Amino acid sequence: MPLVDMRDMLQHAYQNNYAIGGFGLVSLDFLEAIIMAAECCRSPVIINLSQPLFGEYDFRLILPAVERAAQLAKVPVAIHFDHAKQHESIVQAINLGCNSVMLDVSSEAFTVNIAQTSRATEIAHASGAAIEGMLGFVGGTEGENAINHLGEIIYTSAEEAKVYVNRTKVDCLAVSIGTVHGRQSNRAKLDFKRLKRINDELGIPLVLHGGSGLIEDQYHKLILNGVAKINCYTELSDIAAATIRSNVQTRAKKGYIETMHDVKNNLLEQVSLCMHHWGSAGRAAEVLIQCRAWQPVEQIIAYNVEERYLQHIDTFIERSRETLCAIPGVRQVFAGWALIASDQYHLCWRIQFATTDASKNFQTHAEYLAFIDQLARISEPDKINITFAATSVEPNPRIEEIRISPAQHI
Ligand code: 13P
Repeated sequence: MPLVDMRDMLQHAYQNNYAIGGFGLVSLDFLEAIIMAAECCRSPVIINLSQPLFGEYDFRLILPAVERAAQLAKVPVAIHFDHAKQHESIVQAINLGCNSVMLDVSSEAFTVNIAQTSRATEIAHASGAAIEGMLGFVGGTEGENAINHLGEIIYTSAEEAKVYVNRTKVDCLAVSIGTVHGRQSNRAKLDFKRLKRINDELGIPLVLHGGSGLIEDQYHKLILNGVAKINCYTELSDIAAATIRSNVQTRAKKGYIETMHDVKNNLLEQVSLCMHHWGSAGRAAEVLIQCRAWQPVEQIIAYNVEERYLQHIDTFIERSRETLCAIPGVRQVFAGWALIASDQYHLCWRIQFATTDASKNFQTHAEYLAFIDQLARISEPDKINITFAATSVEPNPRIEEIRISPAQHI
């Protein structure tokens, strides 16, 4: 259940002068460390899945684990899809479990950025998901030496930001005020006057990309001027790598587990430090009360087909499944025959939606209306068509409780 709407989370942070970490990950070690840190600090947290890092892991395999960890967590969690390259990957990310997205078209011209982001907003909002916009160019590449990947930083203009947010209807805005993604040789110089002007103009939560490697005083000023989400990956990646390097020296010729020793603990420490510096530690309970839960919804249609249409039913099912699956916010479409034939309702559709908003938008979507129309023509009049929202919270065993200890393996 503590998978929650990121908009509500960020509003709380924005109004109460603190920032929530959007922590990037590349493996289950990172995932466990981030969630455990959030639980230890009683902090809300955002898991960032960044498309530029997808070469390192299979997004389709890690996302179910992230979603499960969020559902089991004791603190509010949101799952954000960062730096998406295409609209199609946004649809896919929401279908796989993300509840917030960002399309990175910040290197495009202003008007192109607006047009592309507006389309992304339509997709996200139709699915009930949050959307982060980005205006201005933050150079560098997360996890690497920024200097090797620097394009020219383009600072966000407050005037353009106002137009951009009005037109695109994004829920929060990532700004460029002097940070870069990746490892930096010198401390970043941040343009706080610019940030203040942007915040005064917009009055919505702001996001900082390139959040690794700043000092406490900088974080403090960022938060005072509207930054409610800070993205961080490079610092975590460097800590994990340094731990492994040290293990290789001190535990030479040992296996994988020894080599990875303390990686999770050191990540946990660093994430906890960020949560304390950014003021999100201790906020979980009040955030949880104020956030809409991200609740799965399912629609069930049970029906019978008139005898004369039976030979075409498989083609109808296959085509319909493809079209319904492509509607934003639809996570899964199941179509099947009753295992035990009864007189009534031989066939059924089960459509799973990301959340209630997605199921509401689905009911008026042209493709769904065409499907229902066709179904009415081939099926018997008596059918069932009901949408169900998940009831309450499932029991949440603590993550440590469900982990098998080494002794149990023996
Ligand atoms: P760092 O590279 O500074 O960790 O920033 C990550 C980031 O901004 C991801 O969007």
